[in-house]
Amino acid sequence: MFISLEGTDGSGKSTAARALLAALRDEGHDVLLTREPGGTTIGDQIRTILLDKTENSAMHPRTELLLFCASRAQLVAQVLRPWLARGGIVLCDRYADSTLAYQGYGHGLDTALLRQILHFATGGLQPDVTFYLDVQPEIGLLRRRQAQLFQAEDWNRLDAMEIAFHQRVYAGYESLMQAEPARWQRIDATRPAEEVSARLLALLRPRLPRKAVESPET
Ligand code: TYD
Repeated sequence: MFISLEGTDGSGKSTAARALLAALRDEGHDVLLTREPGGTTIGDQIRTILLDKTENSAMHPRTELLLFCASRAQLVAQVLRPWLARGGIVLCDRYADSTLAYQGYGHGLDTALLRQILHFATGGLQPDVTFYLDVQPEIGLLRRRQAQLFQAEDWNRLDAMEIAFHQRVYAGYESLMQAEPARWQRIDATRPAEEVSARLLALLRPRLPRKAVESPET
């Protein structure tokens, strides 16, 4: 089973993903948590190029698109397909929908063309379910700014884009969800982190494969 998490910057995906990983592992599932861009040695090197705001501020949207897709192609081939083939669960912090939202709706690249490039990069691998952590970009970016101040977190090249860009990304996610409602599950990400994780797990539970370890009440 392939699960992806999506949302605008500062939506709390990474925190929710870690909580979900722990909960699923506790239940005996064979789960892999990975993230994009990155997740492989090659992908992590591409991530550094993509997120660097000092050296790479002049990056063209097409360069950006191809680098995200290059990182994803490596992740799919090296990690996701082998893991899924063994029957494991993949939890991916961002996947192809991020490219449609950010490079497509955010930068205005042609989404039909993007879909072809994404298909080439992934060989057509699609998540079974995608959780959308819904928070307005103004709030998400404020959270990220606070995290940056208090925990020395990075304010990366994409976080630093103008607010209008983030609003287009947010509207883009709405369009993606409307186009494919069966795959997407929306979660209110303005709620406290524990509540978001609990909701995620509750929505996921009916879709999960049979547990490796049965819980005591079953
Ligand atoms: P990251 O620090 O991982 O942010 P987050 O915690 O919000 O996921 O940085 C990833 C950034 O890259 C984020 O701003 C979204 C962006 N991105 C794209 O623009 N296109 C993509 O295909 C992917 C995977 C990410």
